[in-house]
Amino acid sequence: MDVAILANLKKNAPTWPGMSPDRWDDLDSEETIESIAQALRAGGHEVTVLEGDLTLPDNLRRVKPDICFNICEGHFGDGREAHVPAILEMMRIPYTGSQVLTLALALDKPMTKRVLTYHGLPTPPFQVFERLHETLDPDLRFPLFVKPSREGTGMGVSAESIVYDEGQLQAQLRRVFERYDQPCLVERYIEGREVTVGLVGNLGSPVAWRVPRDEEAPRVTRGLHFFPPLEVDLAAYPVEEAGVYTSRIKVEMAHDFHYHCPAPLRPEQVEELDWLAAATFRVTGCLDVGRVDFRLDVNDEDQPYILEVNPLPGLNPGYSDLCIEAGADGWSYEELINSILDLAIERYELE
Ligand SMILES: Nc1ncnc2c1ncn2[C@@H]1O[C@H](COP(=O)(O)OP(=O)(O)O)[C@@H](O)[C@H]1O
Ligand SMILES: [Mg+2]
Repeated sequence: MDVAILANLKKNAPTWPGMSPDRWDDLDSEETIESIAQALRAGGHEVTVLEGDLTLPDNLRRVKPDICFNICEGHFGDGREAHVPAILEMMRIPYTGSQVLTLALALDKPMTKRVLTYHGLPTPPFQVFERLHETLDPDLRFPLFVKPSREGTGMGVSAESIVYDEGQLQAQLRRVFERYDQPCLVERYIEGREVTVGLVGNLGSPVAWRVPRDEEAPRVTRGLHFFPPLEVDLAAYPVEEAGVYTSRIKVEMAHDFHYHCPAPLRPEQVEELDWLAAATFRVTGCLDVGRVDFRLDVNDEDQPYILEVNPLPGLNPGYSDLCIEAGADGWSYEELINSILDLAIERYELE
């Protein structure tokens, strides 16, 4: 097939004076795009690469791909990860991965947490601060964790995100407001191990967007393939990072990633994480691929808490969590990339 890889490359991103240096940390490197292109070519496809910006509609009319491999994170606005899928839907061009609603939802962490909470899925209790002086919900006890509502790749996350009193909370809120100009998510700090579960597939059987309340009800995950969980080895990083998966670790130290994969967990723990990942995938409407980040509460028998869902997980063959997990499962990078494409091809009934 003719496949167009749609991406936002770091090197093509707009710049302006005074721009925050981490502004485009989410975007992709040429190395990642080239690896995806090679994998798809090895899968027997013709491949072009297009930048997911305003040049896209004209380029799509010219290239006329059968399907797009979309990994665009977008540039501006609350719905930036949904921009390219919206264009593709207007132009009626098939594409891999989740669609407009899911991508816009997952970018907004509080909105996602409201959906998870509605479905009874465990996510740390939280409050959104729109401005500095709001009364802290009395149910929220220190220590708390402060992060921007709508960023990724550890942006705005550092040791200072853990706050132990009102003074620290105010100081951190001020920093996040100044730098990211968006509401702040303040949630219970979950002390414990950091685990992420990647999955590919689509739920077979009609998908009701709900999770059974009945504990005894069968846990339907048919159609999904779970990779072995990856645990970030936070103890291997400098103490200054305070056991948090910070932007420094994710960006500056990305090539020196310390992890355990498969994570040393008991089979019943893995089963629970897989189920929670599947339930999250389902209630947020993910398609083809996703990754769900967890913390296991050391003060509550390793009870898992869902931190966020990533419908566009990083695909760098060297260090992205999903690629490491697939590798630990015996999948080559080529197999991972082509299986994401094949899932979309199957959904659109292109073959
Ligand atoms: N409530 C929390 N308790 C403890 N650590 C947290 C909490 N929320 C986030 N973190 C830490 O911050 C990191 C980044 O947070 P996350 O919500 O996954 O955002 P990102 O989109 O930047 O990956 C997590 O991997 C974890 O180390
Ligand atoms: Mg995360």
